[in-house]
Amino acid sequence: MKLRFLYIILCGTLSTGFSQNYEAKVDSLINLMTLQEKIGQTVMYSGHWDQTGPFVGADNGKYIREGNMGAMLNAMSVKGTRDLQKIAVEESRLGIPLLFGYDVIHGHRTIFPINLGLSASWDLKMVEESSRIAAEEASAEGIHWTFAPMIDVSREPRWGRISEGAGEDVFLNNEIGKAYVRGFQGDDLSQPNTVLACAKHYVAYGAAQAGRDYHTTNMGEGELRNVYLPPFKAAVDAGVETFMSAFNELNGVPTSGNKFTLRDILRDEWKFDGFVVSDYTSINEMIQHGFAKDSIDAARIGMNAGVDMDMVGHVYRLHLKTLVEEGKVSEAYINDACKRILLAKFKLGLFDDPYRYIDELREANTAYKPEFLAKAREIAAASSVLLQNNNKVLPLSKKTKSIAFIGPLVKDEADILGNWAAKGERGGKAVSVFEGVSEYLKANQILYAKGCDILNDDRSGFEEAISISQKADQIVLVMGENHHMSGEAASRTDLKIPGIQPELIKKIREANPNKNITLVLMNGRPLNLSDEVNLVDAILEVWFPGTMGGAATADLLFGTVNPSGKLTVTFPRNVGQVPIYYNMKNTGRPIPENNPKQDYKSNYIDVPNTPLFVFGHGLSYTKFRYSDLKLSSENLTFSSTIEASVKITNTGNIDGFEIVQLYIHDKVGSVTRPVKELKGFQKIFLKKGESKTVTFTISAEDLKFYNSDMIYGVEIGEFEIAIAPSSDFKFKHTFNLND
Ligand code: BGC
Repeated sequence: MKLRFLYIILCGTLSTGFSQNYEAKVDSLINLMTLQEKIGQTVMYSGHWDQTGPFVGADNGKYIREGNMGAMLNAMSVKGTRDLQKIAVEESRLGIPLLFGYDVIHGHRTIFPINLGLSASWDLKMVEESSRIAAEEASAEGIHWTFAPMIDVSREPRWGRISEGAGEDVFLNNEIGKAYVRGFQGDDLSQPNTVLACAKHYVAYGAAQAGRDYHTTNMGEGELRNVYLPPFKAAVDAGVETFMSAFNELNGVPTSGNKFTLRDILRDEWKFDGFVVSDYTSINEMIQHGFAKDSIDAARIGMNAGVDMDMVGHVYRLHLKTLVEEGKVSEAYINDACKRILLAKFKLGLFDDPYRYIDELREANTAYKPEFLAKAREIAAASSVLLQNNNKVLPLSKKTKSIAFIGPLVKDEADILGNWAAKGERGGKAVSVFEGVSEYLKANQILYAKGCDILNDDRSGFEEAISISQKADQIVLVMGENHHMSGEAASRTDLKIPGIQPELIKKIREANPNKNITLVLMNGRPLNLSDEVNLVDAILEVWFPGTMGGAATADLLFGTVNPSGKLTVTFPRNVGQVPIYYNMKNTGRPIPENNPKQDYKSNYIDVPNTPLFVFGHGLSYTKFRYSDLKLSSENLTFSSTIEASVKITNTGNIDGFEIVQLYIHDKVGSVTRPVKELKGFQKIFLKKGESKTVTFTISAEDLKFYNSDMIYGVEIGEFEIAIAPSSDFKFKHTFNLND
């Protein structure tokens, strides 16, 4: 009898349901495996594609048959994954099923706004719903595992990957990361509509020097622990099954060879028991970092540091066996890595049925369900941020005689999906802004000109654009970046709207000095809009809003939906202010409020210290009044809580959602503390004229931080507190923490 069959029988007799402990099964399987087969589980390669879809490439077939591959990325579809899985199950010695992973980042087929946009909804339910839908669609195409969420805090708008995260705040990244994990993994991984989540990129990748991708990060342990690590800890607490080590070095040690972050913190402190995959060839890249002398050395460092799986780097497959034989890597590390990977496969139910994610009916009937598209429309609208609305030029009226829609993104159906759009079709499926507004206006009310491209300097379309702008009653410009300008390897040193678009905006304003101009922006990062705020009346930031983005944008422009999104990242006045973020430190020479120009203070001589748009900013078509902030007590103890409440009234004429933000400032600490820190938020709905009291409960736990001895705790003293519509406020209330 072949061992493979022996093993399947073994699993069959042990398998009586999903809830039992898999450890015994995994151990019995590991006992049957050769060292190279165990190493094989730690190896991931990429699927092959041709024009007709996925196919089994010669190398992949060989590695699978030999038991030299545990997982694949970029392999999907019922046909593709069945062909591959069949080789693993029927032709390898032990028949261990493969794990299929893919970058399902903000949707799989139905694409939601880019993650930075999604975070601007401050809506954890929506984040969870979007990742649930993504998991439904991805798993229906054979995918078991997504490389998401990205929970890299970033204060770097030059860094293209800021588009993939939840912005600059720690608390928000914690909460949003947990919501993604819940959505992807569901509450029962054995269900074939769930996928393993992956917390990435561990760690501090978002702090790349000068915003250049893959660049060096250097920081003290205090900043690492207080700012960059917490979202990863939150993901562990939320039950995330996998982690991805990053490309960057941290304080001189590449994060894919960093024992301190991978073993001491992740395993020993946090007790993470899932597996860690490297980023794409990040183990090999330790050679270029100058940390490993060759690929053998890189394999040694990666495994010893705690990276369980090598993503496409070939170094584990080729070198780990010799390294174990030479005593340079302990076999116990290989056993542990293999065990964790097998455990994940057990949890997914792949040993009960390796084909359980391979289902023609689900594949044919899951993508783009009408309810998914409806959700995508709702979420895209909730993620957009109304940055400016002078003289209430928005919402537009459907009765306007004619509106000129101008810009390279008006009819776009490709960039609108943003970067990392998985299997979302660029073109065809996506609803452009033009299509969206066509639901509201008759053809004779719409004038259109592209005007220019995003990147080249061809001005031949300017004349037509200016001419239609002069004929119309209202002007809407739809401009921004293309989708390649954010995401991986898309750092910019210039944060302006790219190309000659700013020039066209200027010319349109000059030709229409008194006409209302609205700028709809699609982009993957905070932009420098210092000129545009003076040239246009309204600015609606829709990010890259996804498949239903054009429809959602139209819903906002015409007021069917009242904007409610708020920024999760600061928009600077210019690139020289970067890094600029709301929760900075005070310095020893803060600028006096009454005299910001005073000499020898911490300021610039050319621009104010303040950003153009603050963290938490976002307008609505209605107005909210905050009043009566009350604290249940001004004294908090280690064992008590206090309640902070505020009355919020919708004083306008339209119903709307408001994102209410709780900020605290620890006035004196054994290490200096940020000038304000987000500690809570609530999204509430208020009918016009309605008031609600919003209450937050505060305990000593909320005030903890890592001190200079790297002890996580609270310090007694005075704290300032505010409940506000954005981070732009002055504290007026305090409480004390006593022991
Ligand atoms: C990216 C990861 C991604 C991986 C697999 C890398 O280049 O940094 O975020 O998950 O590729 O596609």
